[in-house]
Amino acid sequence: MNLKDLYINYFVSKGHKQIPSAPVVPENDSSVLFNTAGMQPLIPYLMGEPHPYGTRLTDYQKCVRTNDLENIGDTYHHTFFEMLGNWSLGDYFKKEAIEWSFEFLTKVLNIHVERLAVTIFAGNESIPFDQEAHDLWIAQGIPEERIAPTKDDNFWIAGETGPCGPDTEMFYWRSNDPIPEKFDPEDVRWVEIWNDVFMQYNKAEDGTVTELPKKNVDTGMGVERTTAILEGVNDNYQSSIWTPTIKLIESISKLPYEGNEKPMRVIADHLRTAIFISADPAMIKPSNTDQGYILRRLIRRAIRYARQLNIDITSDWEQQIALLLIDQYSKYYKELSDNKDIVLEVLANEKIKFNRTLEKGLKEFDKRTMNSNNIDADTAFHLYDTYGFPIELTEEIAKERNITVDIEGFKAKFKAHQDLSRQQSAGKFKGGLAGDSVIETRYHTATHLLNAALKKVLGPSVHQMGSNITVERMRFDFPCDHKLTDEEKKQVEDQVNEWIQAGLEVKRVEMPKEEAIASGAECRFIEKYPDIVSVYIIGDDVSKELCGGPHVSNTKELGKFIIKKEEASSQGVRRIKAVLEGE
Ligand code: ALA
Repeated sequence: MNLKDLYINYFVSKGHKQIPSAPVVPENDSSVLFNTAGMQPLIPYLMGEPHPYGTRLTDYQKCVRTNDLENIGDTYHHTFFEMLGNWSLGDYFKKEAIEWSFEFLTKVLNIHVERLAVTIFAGNESIPFDQEAHDLWIAQGIPEERIAPTKDDNFWIAGETGPCGPDTEMFYWRSNDPIPEKFDPEDVRWVEIWNDVFMQYNKAEDGTVTELPKKNVDTGMGVERTTAILEGVNDNYQSSIWTPTIKLIESISKLPYEGNEKPMRVIADHLRTAIFISADPAMIKPSNTDQGYILRRLIRRAIRYARQLNIDITSDWEQQIALLLIDQYSKYYKELSDNKDIVLEVLANEKIKFNRTLEKGLKEFDKRTMNSNNIDADTAFHLYDTYGFPIELTEEIAKERNITVDIEGFKAKFKAHQDLSRQQSAGKFKGGLAGDSVIETRYHTATHLLNAALKKVLGPSVHQMGSNITVERMRFDFPCDHKLTDEEKKQVEDQVNEWIQAGLEVKRVEMPKEEAIASGAECRFIEKYPDIVSVYIIGDDVSKELCGGPHVSNTKELGKFIIKKEEASSQGVRRIKAVLEGE
């Protein structure tokens, strides 16, 4: 059995419910472009919202981290990875978390206790030393010398704000050298494999830390790294997760992995991530903004490294690799096989687009650097604008040839030329997670009201086809065969405002899924929901939708609803952009 199955089975045996992996592109959360940790989709529940599956959860979650593409090519960085996790939402706390972590590592994975060490929270001005975690580890049989208290590395928070708390990290001795008695977390032969976060605080944007309504446990174990450890390899790309892909790249390029590690790892890593992003329900396509820009960069970098291996990039090399990966992962992620054709098309189209300009761009690059070892801002921008070279690509090619690039100058030009959305997207990489959640929660409830108002005005065939919320606005896609008239728009707007002003109660009730559907509750992806579901009901009969929340408790909290734009989204689909003002 592989690690994912062992993990889920173990925690299910401890009373946890397995929840499906959330999409890599967060739904209704504009603070980040991608899910970067297993806990991220669970933030509302860690903050106190009841989870429809209960208080003990476990899953494997798709995560994407692309802040530093430069790191890809070493033995252990990946832009996509899977994180295993188990959560207690106000249920068990440190004792069970530590006992189960220890039991899983030593009894299920059969790791010898001799190879294990842990860090715990040393305490700071406001939070004391974690004596309890210390004593619990001792009770499990971890010797004193293998427990290292640290101040900075044992307090976990995703980004700048949101749920957080002291943690304890588990390390594995990955070396054939004799194991030192005393654990030194700085010794790279000790590798971190698991993190148990004792999440009991929430950090607000002004820096204040308050107790969460309930104490939670949040844990995270990286699938790639732990698999490599269990299989006794020091290079993640030589574990069973990657060897089929690496073998295929060897056979396509007719080159050995040894000596060509970096390009092969980049190709494998980037194509896998591109596949997961383009198969996600958000249906991201390569573009120059937000997630689309990342997708574009990943595909283009993979192509560039394929060229380095002398792969004929006009052949179907990337389709072969994609098919292999889709096959390998679709048992766990059905969206890959369901959206196989879309994924293959995204790759093929972007490849054609890039190939068209790559040759010309490289020629231009050569011409411009013939008598100079510097790329100035104008040239960098020209390569971007005319040849579709992301600045990172220019930078990389330049680096290989010992040429400098005026990045700052490029950035200034870029700012001047690009629209706001691109700039916003750069800011998002830094964003905290839960900071804007109050505003987004309002938009979330407004989305349900808009859906109901559209049904009332245009007829019952209206339903939500897509929704996207930022702190600035909401967007809602629905099927409709005509452009809305001014009269229709006004009716919809007035109706939503009437409901807001009526101060309707927003209630959450739990019921069996079948019952919810039979009662007429609206539901988009029926298979995504568990047997017992949360239904949000607004007023007596205004709106009833299956939904994970969170929502405001009374519509009065929404302020004034204003439709800003109504436009076509695609054939037969209209899109409304709206804002909430005041409150
Ligand atoms: N959220 C914790 C982490 O990512 C478990 O390490």
